[in-house]
Amino acid sequence: MSETYQLRDGLVVPKIAFGTWLVNGAQGVNSIVSALNVGYRLIDSAFNYENEGAVGAAIRKSPVPREDIIVSSKLPGRHHHYQEAIDTIQESLYRAGLDYYDLYLIHWPNPKEDNYVEAWQALIDAQRFGLIRSIGVSNFLPEHLERLEKETGVMPVLNQIELHPYFNQEKQREYDQAHGILDQAWSPLGRASNELKDPFILKLAEKYHKNAGQIILRWETQLGVLPIAKSSHTDHQRENLNIFDFELTADELVGMSKLTKVDGRLKNQDPAVYEEF
Ligand SMILES: NC(=O)c1ccc[n+]([C@@H]2O[C@H](COP(=O)([O-])OP(=O)(O)OC[C@H]3O[C@@H](n4cnc5c(N)ncnc54)[C@H](OP(=O)(O)O)[C@@H]3O)[C@@H](O)[C@H]2O)c1
Repeated sequence: MSETYQLRDGLVVPKIAFGTWLVNGAQGVNSIVSALNVGYRLIDSAFNYENEGAVGAAIRKSPVPREDIIVSSKLPGRHHHYQEAIDTIQESLYRAGLDYYDLYLIHWPNPKEDNYVEAWQALIDAQRFGLIRSIGVSNFLPEHLERLEKETGVMPVLNQIELHPYFNQEKQREYDQAHGILDQAWSPLGRASNELKDPFILKLAEKYHKNAGQIILRWETQLGVLPIAKSSHTDHQRENLNIFDFELTADELVGMSKLTKVDGRLKNQDPAVYEEF
């Protein structure tokens, strides 16, 4: 894959990633191998997806060299205490059969528990130990990021957030970009719900001879965001990568941004209150 972003710490990552939520077991391995074969070089996973083993198996099965793949996983909310976090990162590696992760994120801040700074210290140390190349977070609001910086002196290089046309996260993106934090978009296709049928997006799809998903993913990359698209079908996987041969105009970007809704989250998972363990 030719188009890349460079994280603040120097790590170079592709502009689009492959998501693996609900991609499990032997079928999951086949899906991930297919994704690697069609050209994905960033695989997103999580301890809580219970598929780090499938990710590792797919990497070993695929002809793509390990060092050419950015492998990413996430620390679950139930293991934010320092020693548990270190043990969990090690367990993530054992599950995948890998020596290191390229990226490792705190999955949710869980602010009511308020142990995410401790978890962050564990990620900082795991990076020092050589278990992780780059450290980041997911679903962190500016107030959470500020505490990380204030209490550890280290700002994440990446924040994985819910982002799709009906929830475009303008404010969070502004904050993250101002602090040198790359945003990854989870559910970038809105989980294939109404956004793929939106009339404005369908009109752009017609103009550029693309489908609605390709318009959405291109819009996200033009915002400077890294979408994590999931598909179990090789044809969809291929389509979702084929987005770099056209460019939306400035007016079209404005039009896309107008589709956002205040309550556009898919499942009302506001990180200020929502917790996941
Ligand atoms: N950090 C977090 O808290 C968090 C939360 C949620 C998700 N994630 C990550 O983000 C990834 C993506 O999010 P997601 O899986 O929720 O949603 P998504 O990628 O927005 O949508 C996935 C759905 O879109 C369909 N699809 C994909 N490409 C398509 C195409 N070209 N045409 C039509 N349909 C298409 C897929 O069906 P087919 O399989 O049939 O193609 C699947 O049903 C996850 O897999 C996970 O890695 C992270």
